[in-house]
Amino acid sequence: MTLDIAHRLKNRANDVEKALTDALLPRAGEAAIAKLQDAMAYGLTGGGKRMRPFLVLETATLFGAESKAMDAAVALEMIHAYSLVHDDLPAMDDADLRRGKPSVHKAYDEAIAVLVGDGLLTQAFTVLSGYEPGIAAPLVKELAEAAGMIGMVGGQMMDLYPEGHDEEHIIALQAKKTGALIECAATMGCIVGGASADETAALRLYARKLGLAFQIADDLLDVTVTAEEAGKPVGRDEGQGKATFVSLLSEEGARQRLQSLNDEAAAALASVDQDTSVLEALLAWQASRTH
Ligand code: IPE
Ligand code: IPE
Ligand code: MG
Ligand code: MG
Ligand code: MG
Repeated sequence: MTLDIAHRLKNRANDVEKALTDALLPRAGEAAIAKLQDAMAYGLTGGGKRMRPFLVLETATLFGAESKAMDAAVALEMIHAYSLVHDDLPAMDDADLRRGKPSVHKAYDEAIAVLVGDGLLTQAFTVLSGYEPGIAAPLVKELAEAAGMIGMVGGQMMDLYPEGHDEEHIIALQAKKTGALIECAATMGCIVGGASADETAALRLYARKLGLAFQIADDLLDVTVTAEEAGKPVGRDEGQGKATFVSLLSEEGARQRLQSLNDEAAAALASVDQDTSVLEALLAWQASRTH
């Protein structure tokens, strides 16, 4: 039977959606905190491709550890959702639409959007604290580093204050702002699954290439699809002075770069003994996505 990657993603996304909803419970008695929980749920659930959780679950599955991986997937998606809520704020990308709905600061207000991000960021680590200590400690270290100063947050800083628009700079910034959390997804699956150092290195390399390819696809969508298709504003990167492969190489050049990154990602899987066909299919799927 051929692998239906879209179907597999959808099934996993449904499971993730349930787990994310549960992770914000129990509901607080205080009205203000209950409102914060509503706003956190608004930013976290009801949309999104859930590719990072998918990658956590699929890498853990390679090592027979699928049943232990959902909390790691949930924690990572909380960090991702928080990054989007803050990314959309007027002080950052100033985007009013996210996942086809008004952004959190539009549906609520800016102060609440800041607190939603803070709440999701910290809740992620509460979720990880439920793992046995031998797994929790490495998961916390991976996620904190990937999310923070030397990872996603550092990348967002480089995105807002680019020091250059050359290839080296774009790769460095995209590896951090987007690549770090995607590499973290594969690494968390490896930690939960007890993968060897060699297996972890190979899957990290795969995810690093996938992460760069993923941001190129996002930058291509900014110039090729409608806001309705994307579920977020498009056509803004150039005006906002973003350093992207599309600005550097134009559309065709960016597409070629995406393809060579996919080839490198697939090559990284060659040294993994397990059946990596799902991870390989994910490369082509994300390259041709429309949102
Ligand atoms: C958007 O991420 C931000 C980037 C890092 C490019 P996604 O494209 O994964 O957004 P959702 O979670 O599916 O909405
Ligand atoms: C977002 O990059 C990266 C993070 C949120 C960390 P973009 O700013 O290009 O993402 P979109 O296009 O708003 O989803
Ligand atoms: Mg941004
Ligand atoms: Mg943005
Ligand atoms: Mg974008």
